[in-house]
Amino acid sequence: MTIESEALRHKIREALSSQKQPTVTVLSSLLAVQDALGYLPEEAIEEVADFTETTINDVWGVASFYTNFRFTPPGQHVVEVCWGPTCHVMGAMRVLQRLQETLDISTEGETEDKQVTLKYNTCLGACSHGPVISIDHRLMGRITPEEAQKRVSDLNGHHPKGDHGNV
Ligand code: FES
Repeated sequence: MTIESEALRHKIREALSSQKQPTVTVLSSLLAVQDALGYLPEEAIEEVADFTETTINDVWGVASFYTNFRFTPPGQHVVEVCWGPTCHVMGAMRVLQRLQETLDISTEGETEDKQVTLKYNTCLGACSHGPVISIDHRLMGRITPEEAQKRVSDLNGHHPKGDHGNV
């Protein structure tokens, strides 16, 4: 086992044992790991099987059923665009289109330099502020295509410090 793999397993075990809910399941364990790492590496499947005393096949069954789980590391920054009904009516598609042009990608996924992951979201929970995006979990409401482009362009090379969004 490499040092990197052992360090990863350590983080995974920490995430698994820090679950606060009384009932720990395969699903809750996978969610805890994905929250901690942003994705589920191969080691996570083994550790979750061990932690929940089930089989690797069972854990894979759950992990592959839910489309929200990802198995490769996300980009350094995660940009989510809500395209739920309210945001759609408020202009989300123009925001999405502008971001795809800015990031030079045509769908969800990572930019070529792996700096940014673009994700679609069916509701970011701030419908009255639509259209809404989030950048690294910071919500930004009533966003215009121009503002969204600026925010995402600003991500190149630095993290937007001290910015807590505008929702
Ligand atoms: S529909 Fe966009 S935040 Fe709810």
